[in-house]
Amino acid sequence: MSNYWSTLVQLPDTLMTSRRLRFSDRLKAFYTGFFGIPGGSKILEIGCGPGALCESLRRWYPDCDITGLDLDEDFISYAKSRVPGVNFIVGNAEKLPFPNHSFDVTISNTVAEHIDHGSFFGEQLRVLRPGGVCIVLSTRGSTHLPAPCIAEESDFERDIWRRVERHFLETKDNFGIGKFAMNEQELPQIMEKMGLMNIETGYISIDLTPDCTDPETASEIIESWRANDIDAVKMLRNLAGDEVGEGEIARLIGLTEEKYRRRLGLLGRERQWDCEVVQMMAARGTARG
Ligand SMILES: C[S@@+](CC[C@H](N)C(=O)[O-])C[C@H]1O[C@@H](n2cnc3c(N)ncnc32)[C@H](O)[C@@H]1O
Repeated sequence: MSNYWSTLVQLPDTLMTSRRLRFSDRLKAFYTGFFGIPGGSKILEIGCGPGALCESLRRWYPDCDITGLDLDEDFISYAKSRVPGVNFIVGNAEKLPFPNHSFDVTISNTVAEHIDHGSFFGEQLRVLRPGGVCIVLSTRGSTHLPAPCIAEESDFERDIWRRVERHFLETKDNFGIGKFAMNEQELPQIMEKMGLMNIETGYISIDLTPDCTDPETASEIIESWRANDIDAVKMLRNLAGDEVGEGEIARLIGLTEEKYRRRLGLLGRERQWDCEVVQMMAARGTARG
């Protein structure tokens, strides 16, 4: 169908590593408490990307039937190769390839803001059984403060990022990324307007400070930043291949890897207090019974 997201916006490793932290078992009590998904449900995740939320849903709801759908075929291939026990399918949220009333739960994370509200919610209401649950998750602002050894930039790096900045902005415009963004007040209002009932919202603040966690989680957090930064460099081949040469990309990757090697080397020896704090919003409504 397409692969613009996984080649021009966020590569699979960036999403998989960062989302695994957002849907880790440490946060299970909040999510499962809010979701209220009954055992044996048929769950559809819309815009599942590389499959991190489906992977957690599989662990948290072992007796549920879980399907992950995304427009991007490369994400779906990636998800199929890494997340067992889930049906992954390429498809469009605006024209879901399922009959009416075929799911008990629809769920999505950071997808609603990219798709026209009428078709996004209209299609979910069509495939939900009466009384079924629609859950929308989205990130609401976050803090990211890298350690000095990661943040420092050479003139070479500064020059490249300045040269390519417009390509990132153009891609956002060209693909309508974030075009249908809703603030914390608008999301529940729109869900209600679309016909969902009993709307509830909830928030969780996810603290990803490596120095304040166990060594395994600390490494996972730093690895997710590394994947994000390395993917941003690799994406230059697709976004700005005419402007940035292979030699520059290789040098940039080498510099980035070196920064993260230094950061990992400091773990447990010298605290850096670098952090990422993500605020996650969850909204939930039910289809008319
Ligand atoms: C910000 S990413 C989030 C991916 C995943 N939910 C996660 O949290 O890692 C948005 C996702 O929505 C998908 N997407 C965008 N428009 C779509 C559509 N019309 N139908 C299905 N998926 C769509 C993109 O391909 C991408 O995977």
